[in-house]
Amino acid sequence: MTAQTVTVYVDGKPVSVHPEDSAAAAALKAELGHTRVSPVSGERRAPYCMMGVCFECLMVIDGVPSRQACMVRVHPGMRIERQTANKVWA
Ligand code: FES
Repeated sequence: MTAQTVTVYVDGKPVSVHPEDSAAAAALKAELGHTRVSPVSGERRAPYCMMGVCFECLMVIDGVPSRQACMVRVHPGMRIERQTANKVWA
């Protein structure tokens, strides 16, 4: 039996994921690489703990910045975007 999937969009790229996956898991599956840029140091960051502790997974989800992507369950059509300093502070 094939697991049900939903399609989300990671930086505009359609990705099929399990309906109980997190947005961070979808970003990793999309091989996005880094998921945010630190507004302080400019360093590239990516999900690390996957359980809501490290805050390295902050992303723009459905247009809302600074969401903890590892704590947000996907839904069909979800838009998941890399967060850059410009997106947050512009
Ligand atoms: S990956 Fe650590 S808080 Fe999301």
